[in-house]
Amino acid sequence: ILRMADLDLAGKRVLIREDLNVPVKDGRITSEQRITAALPTIRLALEKGAAVMVTSHLGRPKEGVWTQEDSLAPVAARLSELLGREVPLRKDWTDGVDVKPGQLVLLENCRMNVGEGKDDETLSKKYAALCDVYVMDAFGTAHRAQASTHGAIRFAKVACGGPLLMAELDALAKALEAPARPLIAIVAGSKVSTKLELLSNLVSKVDQLIVGGGIANTFIAAVGHPVGKSLCENDLLDTARQIIADARARGADIPIPTDVVVAPAFAADAPATVKKVNEVGADDMILDIGPETAARYAEMIKKAGTVVWNGPVGVFEFDAFGKGTQVLAQAIADSPAFSIAGGGDTLAAVDKYGVEAGIGYISTGGGAFLEFCEGKELPAVTALKSRH
Ligand code: 3PG
Repeated sequence: ILRMADLDLAGKRVLIREDLNVPVKDGRITSEQRITAALPTIRLALEKGAAVMVTSHLGRPKEGVWTQEDSLAPVAARLSELLGREVPLRKDWTDGVDVKPGQLVLLENCRMNVGEGKDDETLSKKYAALCDVYVMDAFGTAHRAQASTHGAIRFAKVACGGPLLMAELDALAKALEAPARPLIAIVAGSKVSTKLELLSNLVSKVDQLIVGGGIANTFIAAVGHPVGKSLCENDLLDTARQIIADARARGADIPIPTDVVVAPAFAADAPATVKKVNEVGADDMILDIGPETAARYAEMIKKAGTVVWNGPVGVFEFDAFGKGTQVLAQAIADSPAFSIAGGGDTLAAVDKYGVEAGIGYISTGGGAFLEFCEGKELPAVTALKSRH
């Protein structure tokens, strides 16, 4: 992939596709990680003397209709503050953008443009015609084949990968393609069914696979322990057994919790009790791994060469059920292993426990991070590879 960092951009019109799809509540941005992650790319393009246009999607608006709710206006305002310069937001920009070298404009939500979602060729060509160099930097949207990602790459005079996209791909390659061993993956979340492809792909690569959350409950049930009222997918017990068998067949391990934290209800104030995994009662809900299990996993993490982390191992939004996630987050941060964390809930846990500085790489991708870890090709990355 051609890298933006290697190109001479002086005097060039540069269109950068970022993923500035940040959560916005009542007009306020509640997490700006994706904006701050894009700043170095934007700054570099400006430093190189380009006329810079940046676009992104926000949410999933209806095409052909502008609404305040779907506008990138809050992002433009925040970008202006962070860059210390006015960042104008341009509407109706597909037929031409007035921007001079050294200037920066933000182009309104590209998903408002008709044809964006279905990767329309006419729209893709219009995007391409706006610039001398198109920069794909939206790692978080690299799994979508849409006009501003995949389409523009195909038709741009020059298409390259931006520093953020390349950093994401480099970190993922380091973690999954040539990992320092042992490689440990932590896969947690509510359902095995939504992470089946992830589990199946990782089990063929890792030395240890730590499961957590509802996923762990299904594995706990699969090896024959009672799980009471816990979230558990009974139709996937055989699948879980098969994943365990596949891991064993290649000498890898899927440890099962030996103790868990249970409560009678899914609530912040529900009383938390630690129980041995084989003593979970009919009315218990498993809401976290127990302290003995957390300590055992933390030891494994400290000896790891690489850790890939997706998902909190308990209901960490409720403090009484967050200790397992906290212990593992701290272990990852303290471990000399190269670590990569991705996914919305995971990032919220990184934030809550203040371990950001100890994580090797924090991905801006949710779906894109998962698809990469599932072993899938990301269409925008494939398109970039087939260009120069
Ligand atoms: C994300 O938040 O995962 C990306 O911005 C992609 O958004 P999408 O799922 O609406 O395509």
